[in-house]
Amino acid sequence: MSMTKTLGEFIVECQSEYPDATGALSSLFSSIRLAAKVVNREINKAGLVDITGAAGAENVQGEQQQKLDIYANDKFKSALQARGEVCGIASEEEDKYVNFEGNSQDGDYVVLMDPLDGSSNIDVNVSVGTIFSIYRRVSAKGQPVTDEDFLQPGNKQVAAGYVIYGSSTMLVYTTGNGVNGFTYDPSLGVFCLSHPNMTTPEDGNIYSVNEGNYVHFPEGVKKYIKYCQEEDVATHRPYTSRYIGSLVSDFHRNLIKGGIYLYPTSSSHPNGKLRLLYECNPIAFLAEQAGGKAVASPGQRILDLKPGELHERTPFIVGSTKMVEKVEEFLAD
Ligand code: AHG
Ligand code: MN
Ligand code: MN
Repeated sequence: MSMTKTLGEFIVECQSEYPDATGALSSLFSSIRLAAKVVNREINKAGLVDITGAAGAENVQGEQQQKLDIYANDKFKSALQARGEVCGIASEEEDKYVNFEGNSQDGDYVVLMDPLDGSSNIDVNVSVGTIFSIYRRVSAKGQPVTDEDFLQPGNKQVAAGYVIYGSSTMLVYTTGNGVNGFTYDPSLGVFCLSHPNMTTPEDGNIYSVNEGNYVHFPEGVKKYIKYCQEEDVATHRPYTSRYIGSLVSDFHRNLIKGGIYLYPTSSSHPNGKLRLLYECNPIAFLAEQAGGKAVASPGQRILDLKPGELHERTPFIVGSTKMVEKVEEFLAD
């Protein structure tokens, strides 16, 4: 009987291809894998125990924190601290970056994360996710982490990925050498390689945008939405509209099927809504590694943006290359 490769085996195999690899990144991934399992277990109990709903506090961005936002943040934070590879983290749920003291001060990596993406969907049993982004520190080893460690452009990411807690739970990641997806087998407690070398279609027919904000969108986006809705047999229009409201879930579907996700500027969100460092950069890295494209505006690659602050927002257009290019045309007009 042939067994599917597990995430652990896959990581060891990839590491052996790099003779200079120290194993630190593999160890870091073990922390992420463990935290993902713990959060997955808790999410599966939502509705049975008192873990849904608001926690009663707001994060630094003025958003209601859900109980599971805080739970997921704590679990990922402590898992990442435990192995000494990570010297500090930044999170949607933390006002400032967090310096890991003690042995971790010698760690080579910083991690930026959205511990629970789409958390408003938890109470209604809709897929949510965790997004992570990994960089090599630029500050001196043995010293506390600094702003510069976290405010690196996305093109410096060493690895990035997400966990999607959906009808099945998956971990999808890249280290800059393609994208691989692993599905969690709860009976064995392991992630198994189910989606090797994921690539996204060059073109697609799904568009994902919160159309309730239509009236607030820039003219170019309004015109693009109308373009998606027009009838044209040659280009398979009208397209299909799909919007879950969890970036991870919307992106994951479009990655597999081909499509585009937009969270543009609007009069209510002048800089867009999504956060550059722990939502857009990791998703953009995955998109590009799968053959797709991610921009903030026409010609402005997400991964080349120089971040100014930790919780900075950016407009975000990501998905199948031809679809993103079409939006760029509309926005440039
Ligand atoms: P988070 O739950 O981490 O705050 O992220 C929510 C984000 C993203 O997941 C989603 O695509 C977007 O907010 C939905 O926003 P709207 O409800 O404005 O469409
Ligand atoms: Mn999010
Ligand atoms: Mn979140």
